[in-house]
This record gives sequence, structure tokens and C-alpha cells, in this order.
Amino acid sequence: MIDLRSDTLSQPTPEMLETILTAQLGDDDRTHELGRGEDPTVNELEDLAARITGKQAAVLFPSGTMANSAAVLAQAAPGSTLLVDELQHFMKSEPYLFDSAYGRMAARTYRHDEAGLPLLEDIERELAEQPIDLVCVENTLNFAGGAPIPAERLAAVYKLAQAAGVRVHMDGARIFNAAIALGADVAELCRHADTVMFCLSKGLSAPVGSLVCGDQETILKVRRARKALGGAMRQAGIIAAPGIYALEHMVDRLAEDHESARICAEGIAGLEHTPIVGTVSTNIVVIDPKPLGVDAIRYCELAAERGLAIKPVMGTLVRLVFYRGITRDDARAAARIIRSLDESLGTGPELS
Ligand SMILES: Cc1ncc(COP(=O)(O)O)c(C=O)c1O
Repeated sequence: MIDLRSDTLSQPTPEMLETILTAQLGDDDRTHELGRGEDPTVNELEDLAARITGKQAAVLFPSGTMANSAAVLAQAAPGSTLLVDELQHFMKSEPYLFDSAYGRMAARTYRHDEAGLPLLEDIERELAEQPIDLVCVENTLNFAGGAPIPAERLAAVYKLAQAAGVRVHMDGARIFNAAIALGADVAELCRHADTVMFCLSKGLSAPVGSLVCGDQETILKVRRARKALGGAMRQAGIIAAPGIYALEHMVDRLAEDHESARICAEGIAGLEHTPIVGTVSTNIVVIDPKPLGVDAIRYCELAAERGLAIKPVMGTLVRLVFYRGITRDDARAAARIIRSLDESLGTGPELS
């Protein structure tokens, strides 16, 4: 089975796992000045993350979901209104932020253009017409085919938000994919947001972990929110050590995943009944099986019968995600399966 459901399926390398055995550990929830803990390996990872993103400080989380939640809670009081992309992951997949007891936030949305980039006129209008407390961007924009947002567009969004006195949070779960695809420095992309979340556990192949990076004062608030959410950990150096390895060794190879996605996209380009949604420039390919007359769940079942595990997203679309361990031959084989489904489903009644 070729499993393209998510890059979270990426496995740690043996070298990454070995770092755990020799990591120096301490109690990361025994806090000191500026809330830092006593685990030296966690502190090393947080310093490294801050350095790479060009921020003053960083804090480690067990998941991207909790990291986004804490970053939002630290910068927007309960009852706030967030301005998010209409496909923003944490609105589509983490809706509890908006309706749970601790959040109770409202969301206004902005659209993006064909390339997945935030539409400035929407953001400008919303900021002028609504009381907005936090603007959020997602880079890459997962559900728009992993679209990378370049520094110029991020800068324009930040300028609009700053002019309105509103902070910006960037869900950069795949910010390193964005940087590699754009040929940009990660810090340059992060410069245009007050806080940035990124994940170690997706394409970077670490087993666990996400970080929120920002200025010292905000990160202290994010740490408190982490504690309140139950995310403060003890000897978390066992998570941080492979995370450091991932940041030092696994970033450049993301280009290989982009290449696999490109090979797959080329193999299915122009299919009559299975269009690709958006442009493929990172590790995600989104397809629309609707013209085949099957829903996304059934389409994924049929693909699985042919040896390809893929996942429905947003109800009607299907996502293929490339990561370490998926070869170029797998990418070609995945394209063959998509093509064969297009041929057989597109010309007659659904296959059994
Ligand atoms: C863009 C984006 N943000 C946040 C998350 C949440 O990360 P986690 O699964 O570590 O909670 C994901 C997970 O897929 C994601 O794709």
C-alpha cells in the first residue's frame, strides 16, 4: 500500500532516535526566569527554533493543535474575533477553538487567490468593517494544495494588520516546505508575523513536537497558555532531541518530497474527470473526484482497493501528501492508480 494520507506518517530515522538515548534531561515544567524550564535539551531546541525563525524566543508543544491554540489564546481574549483564511486548518479541523469554553471566539474569513495567496482586499475590508482581534495566515495553505505564501504577500498582510493595530499569527505547520519551495529564508517569511507555529512531526520526520516562536513577552504568555491547556511536559528532552536533529538534518530534503509531488501531479495532469485543485508547488496534491460521480470517501475506498491510501479533505476533495519514505516510483505508481480510476470510473458505472 502506498500511504499518502499525511506527512505525519513520516517515521523518525535511526539517527534521530539515537539522539534520545544521549539527551540530557531535566524537568521542563520547573520554571524559572521567563518561564524556561530545567530540561537543557528542550532549551536548546527552543533557542534553535527562535534563531531559525528570527524570533526572540520559542516554546515547545506536543502538537500543532495545542501550539496554535496557545498562540491564539495568548493574543486574543475569549470572545475575540479572528480573521482567518476560509480554508485555514484550525478553522476546518480544530473548530473547538471557536466554540469551546476556553475559546468562544468568532471567525471572519478572507479568501485567497488561485495561487492560494491571501486576498488583500478581503483583509483590508474586514479590518475596516469589523472589530478583528487577530489575523491568522497559514503557510503553506494545506487545503489549497499546500500553497506557499511568499514574503511579499505576508508583508502586505502584516502591514494591513499593523495599520489596524492587530497582531498576526502564522500557522506555519509546513513553513519549511514553503521556504524550500520559494527559495526563501525561513526567518524572512516569519518576519511578517508576530507569532509563528511550526511542526517537527510532519515533513521533518520527528516523532512529536511543534513550536511557537515570537517575542519574549508573548512567548511567556504562550507558555502560560500551554500550562493551562495541560501541555507543560517534564523530561521533554526526549522529544526535543530528535526535533533538534530534524531541524539540523531534515529541512533540505523536503525538496525531494516536492519533487515526488510534482512527478505525481505531472502523471495526472489533464485528466478529464479528476482535476488537480490549485497549483502543486510543495508536498501536497489535492484532486477533485466529483466529475467522476463518486464522493470523496468512496473514491478513497476504490483507491485503497488498488493499493493507494489517500484521504478526503473538506468533504468533497482528496489529498495526497508526499514525505520521507515515499519514493519517486511510489509517486509514479500513485499517478497510475489515479489515472486508472479516471479511465474506469470516467467511462462507465462505478467499479465494484
Ligand atoms: C496546517 C496545519 N496546522 C496545524 C495542524 C495540527 O498539527 P497536529 O496534528 O500536530 O496537532 C496540522 C495538522 O495536520 C496542519 O496541517
